[in-house]
Amino acid sequence: MIKGFIFDLDGVITDTAELHYDAWKKLADEMGWEFDREVNEKLRGISRMDSIKVIMDHNGVSLNEDTIVELATKKNDIYVNSLDDMTQEDYLPGARELLTHLRSEGFSVALGSASKNANKVLKQLNAIHFFDVIGDGNSVTNSKPAPDIFLFASEKLGLRPENCIVFEDAEKGIDAAKAGNFHSVGIGPEERVGHADIRFDTMKEATLFAVKSHFKDLF
Ligand code: G6P
Ligand code: MG
Repeated sequence: MIKGFIFDLDGVITDTAELHYDAWKKLADEMGWEFDREVNEKLRGISRMDSIKVIMDHNGVSLNEDTIVELATKKNDIYVNSLDDMTQEDYLPGARELLTHLRSEGFSVALGSASKNANKVLKQLNAIHFFDVIGDGNSVTNSKPAPDIFLFASEKLGLRPENCIVFEDAEKGIDAAKAGNFHSVGIGPEERVGHADIRFDTMKEATLFAVKSHFKDLF
């Protein structure tokens, strides 16, 4: 039976991809690196350090670890500053409605995000109260596609993976959910999250009614 829901943050609850893009683009321009939306797409769901390595690989660049950390920190400062403009109006359509509905129906709800800035994002959205457990980039060492962040969240909720549904917009996020034996809902196009148990184009379609209809034997 389904007792809990675990949500990714970026691309599921709010769309930070464009803010990440702007911050990486600023760093890349400064460094004389090529960076476009296609490369940015590969960063969906993966950690900050994995992200900078993807960008460096794309440019055939190698640097020592200290410099990489310094550059990733620089990008993060730009990104964190841009979060100041985020407000309660910045939920993806349908996300706040679903969280509210899950609360009123008494489900356990956790966050399972790779971001180390998840708390700040949730504060800007005024979303902290929706979550019993917040799992973020500081909670585990191995990032998606490893299942660790979702296992952390379910364990803290006191639930087994098979009693939880994970919401994800990233290919590697669905990989992580499957690796951990969670049920999965993919948000986004077939080519990205088509391997989820069920997929919706956007959060607007992912209502509790639609989810229950798909997993009907589990409710
Ligand atoms: C999310 C985003 C990724 C980002 C990662 C780390 O998973 O989808 O694009 O790289 O979080 O975010 P952070 O805020 O820690 O740099
Ligand atoms: Mg995401």
